[in-house]
Amino acid sequence: MTEEDPNNRCQVVVFASQKGGSGKTTVSAHMAVEAERAGAGPVALIDTDPQGSMAKWWNARSSDTPAFAQISVPDLARDIKVLAKAGYRLIIIDTPPAVTSTIAEVITHADLVVVPTRPSPHDLRAVGPTVDIVQMQGKPLVFVVNSATARARITGETAVALSQHGTVAPITLHHRVDFAASMIDGRTVGEVNEASRSAEEVATLWRYFEDRLMRMRGDKLEIMGHPPRRTFEQDILTPASAGMATSDEDDEEFRIENQPGYALPGQAPSFGATPPPTADAAPPPPPSNSNWDGIDRRKSDMGPPKGQADRRRAHQPFGRRHMA
Ligand SMILES: Nc1ncnc2c1ncn2[C@@H]1O[C@H](COP(=O)(O)OP(=O)(O)OP(=O)(O)O)[C@@H](O)[C@H]1O
Ligand SMILES: [Mg+2]
Repeated sequence: MTEEDPNNRCQVVVFASQKGGSGKTTVSAHMAVEAERAGAGPVALIDTDPQGSMAKWWNARSSDTPAFAQISVPDLARDIKVLAKAGYRLIIIDTPPAVTSTIAEVITHADLVVVPTRPSPHDLRAVGPTVDIVQMQGKPLVFVVNSATARARITGETAVALSQHGTVAPITLHHRVDFAASMIDGRTVGEVNEASRSAEEVATLWRYFEDRLMRMRGDKLEIMGHPPRRTFEQDILTPASAGMATSDEDDEEFRIENQPGYALPGQAPSFGATPPPTADAAPPPPPSNSNWDGIDRRKSDMGPPKGQADRRRAHQPFGRRHMA
């Protein structure tokens, strides 16, 4: 809570991640608009990023909600109180891609910190310092996997990796052009097409945050009157996520091992298809550390050692074993 007054129900959600381009501005703007649409407002937005992406998006908007509060970080404590007194129920703060004392200062005002993370090794590697700065202040943290490729194994693996550091939101935002396109003229995916799959994801993600924030407020009466806790299993488990082919927009399965430049430790990275070996091509040289002496023993397989039964079946290489 940001105010001593028990009647004051204003909550502050800070979007932070030192990784540039992880989706802080996109997800925070979408959550603000969706919260307002779902009746959790009035919502105020604060942009603490000197780049001002959120401010530019808001300036391009025709709608007046959510409100945009022009606030500088040194005045944050005082201005959050002013906003709370003015009746704002939710304050959403976008931050620059860094881990600095300024961001630490912003996080001190958070009721909840959201860390959007793309399913990529670079994003995962960068997550540590952001988590540290949040945990040092004992603030609740939720990761949102953003910009995921449909049915890609790396999405689930990212969620598992992130879960070692904190809670992962059960809703993943997928990579779709409308997330970027809708923000050009100051809108969101839901404002461009309410029936789109992106809009559905945004609405479901907000319902998750709404539930968390409500439970954090500890308003027992409200919890009693609230519908039963959503389990989100139908949002996580779909025929597509279970591997069933669908005929819609979903992309080919993304496999990291098929990506250009991928290599196992100690291997040279591959940057494209290698031509198939020709008939007279020399066999590949053995790795320098192997004991291979150049003889292919499969050709000189003469059977079992002396005294042992030959269990090979010349004409029955496969098939069921006959039971005695
Ligand atoms: N789910 C998504 N699908 C497609 N594009 C996305 C998605 N999320 C974000 N983007 C795009 O990725 C880019 C970076 O997103 P955004 O600006 O929200 O990240 P950020 O974390 O705020 O970046 P910065 O750290 O620079 O402030 C933007 O061009 C945005 O439109
Ligand atoms: Mg940003």
